[in-house]
Amino acid sequence: MPQDNLPFTPPVPPPAAGWTIMICINRRLRSDLASCAARSSEDLAKAIEAEVQARGLDIRVERTVCMGRCDFGPTVRVAPGGAFHLGLAPDDVGRFLDDLELKLSLKKETNKINELPPPGT
Ligand code: FES
Repeated sequence: MPQDNLPFTPPVPPPAAGWTIMICINRRLRSDLASCAARSSEDLAKAIEAEVQARGLDIRVERTVCMGRCDFGPTVRVAPGGAFHLGLAPDDVGRFLDDLELKLSLKKETNKINELPPPGT
């Protein structure tokens, strides 16, 4: 999983607004231009969203427009201040989130709404 050489210096304490995983789903209209969508970034976004939800991580996931790394996508960045993670595939999501949990000390959400019985039962 290639990464930019940009430093990752997470603010301490974590940002008041929380962490965000940004995933580019931009498609460039000319077929000869690389884009994250052309490299299946929507599948990657679905895999990250599902795994963040399954793990109950306290981090937001946003699908975004182009972040200028089109030739090396799909492009993922942890905001604010995180490195770019380039060329991730759905199979890399487990390892990617393991690493983030460790580096950012992500709390697990305790969402009691999901534990309630379905309406009408
Ligand atoms: S299309 Fe994703 S970074 Fe440009």
